[in-house]
Order: sequence, then structure tokens, then C-alpha cells
Amino acid sequence: MTARVMHGADELRGLPRRDRAVVMTMGALHDGHAELVREARRLVGDAGDVVITVFVNPTQFGAGEDFDAYPRTLEADVLVASQAGADVVFAPSAVEVYGPARGFRPDSVTIDPGPLGDILEGASRPGHFRGVLTVVNKLMSLTQPRLALFGEKDYQQLTLIRRMAADLSLPVDVIGVPTVREPDGLAMSSRNRYLSAHEREIAATIPRALDAAEAAAVDGPRAAEAAGRAVIASAPEVTLDYLVATDVDLGPAPEQGSGRLLVAATVGTTRLLDNRSARMGA
Ligand code: PAF
Repeated sequence: MTARVMHGADELRGLPRRDRAVVMTMGALHDGHAELVREARRLVGDAGDVVITVFVNPTQFGAGEDFDAYPRTLEADVLVASQAGADVVFAPSAVEVYGPARGFRPDSVTIDPGPLGDILEGASRPGHFRGVLTVVNKLMSLTQPRLALFGEKDYQQLTLIRRMAADLSLPVDVIGVPTVREPDGLAMSSRNRYLSAHEREIAATIPRALDAAEAAAVDGPRAAEAAGRAVIASAPEVTLDYLVATDVDLGPAPEQGSGRLLVAATVGTTRLLDNRSARMGA
């Protein structure tokens, strides 16, 4: 069945109240998003509602980032969302979400991500997580779900959304869904479509760096970082921003125990992220 497309929150409010899961996206949907929708359907069953939001959020892009160029493909998105089992595609305008300012006003109340918002992606993209958390909070209010599903591909984002839900006592369960990968290991991302054929090949260096880091993690987090960075350094067309080992909450990595490996690197002009869990120490 084709999902219903709604642009106004009043249309959503008019739906009969059923158990609801929401998948938030900026559109340009790929199989990673489809997997989130399929998982949402599994969790709420046929009697529940699966809502996918499509909104390119201006407040999470910095000056000089790709807000204007970001792919807007609503028609194709409705097809992907419908095939994956969504009931509703909620595609609000910037005015619907932010009012006439279409973004933050100087006196807007926004969500402060705390110190976790200033590291890794937050260090490279100041203000990014303030924009993400504020829009996620708004979209939760507009869609009123019991469950909200996010990909592990954006692990820092997922961690911060979980923390926001806990710290602000939001009545929403935040669920992380494993990253969907291309056959060569590249994490699916809407930004992969920016890559030329040659860059697309080179981009597989990123998951290979995580393979090496994971294998070396047996010797501890510093060895993991060194091994991963060496793989990136061997590919001159890949520019590393960071490759770090942390604990599962993005704090300092343990010498022994569960950790996370996170990488951000640029291929051509496209910034790509990836991460995976890793056991640190023998
Ligand atoms: O991950 C994304 O696509 C966005 O950051 C999100 C969560 C939809 C907020 O705009």
C-alpha cells in the first residue's frame, strides 16, 4: 500500500490513535532507512502506525555545508517508505516546523547537547547537535510516537538522542538499529550519492580501516586507533578527520571490555562516517 503523505501536523493529529513508531530522516532514502521502517513495523505490528518523517533540517547544517545541495527526492522516498511498510510519510515544511523564521531565531529555546555535543562530529561541526536534538525533540512532539528508531551509523547522534530522552524524561523509547552496508562494507548513507564511481571505490577504505582497528583492539584502544589510521593513511585520496576508540557511551575507551570505534573521513568533498563495536583487550 502507498503511504499517505502529510505535510501538516494537524493531519497527523487527525489520525486515530494507535501504537506508533517513528523513523526520522532527511529523505534521499536508501535501504538503511528501509530497514528502520521494517524494524518499526516489526515492533508495532500490523495494528500499529509507522510514520517516517522526511525533513531536511536547516538548523543542523553549518555555514558552507551541503544544506542547499542535499538531495530532495520526495516522490522516490514515498515509494521506498511504502515498500518498506510505512503508513505515513510526514514531510513538513520549514515553516511548519520552525514558524516563519524557518530556523532558529536569536531568542529561540533550543536543546543543549551538553559536552558530548562538542566532541567528534560536534568538534568538526559546531552547533550541529543543537540542531539535531532540537528538531528530533520537535518531531517527537509533532508525531507523538511510543518508539523512535535511529540508525547506529550515526552513533554519536543516536547516543545523544538516547541521552536527551533519558535526561528530559521524554515518553519515547529510543531504539538503535544496526548499520546496513553495501557488499564492499561501505555504510549506506544518503551522502554516498555524492561520490563519483572512483570515489565510491576508494570509500571502501573506511570500513577496511575499521576492520583493521577491530582486529588490533585485542592489544588495546591505542593499538586499534593506530591500525585504523594506518589504513586510512595508505589511501592518499581519503582525508581523515578522526578515528578513535571510545567506550560504548563515547567516554574514554577501556583497556579491557566493550568499546566503540568511530571514524569520519572525507573522500573528494564528501564527508563519510562509520563506526562499530569492538572488544578492547585480550
Ligand atoms: O539522521 C538524520 O537523518 C537527521 O540527523 C535526523 C535525525 C532526521 C534529524 O534531522
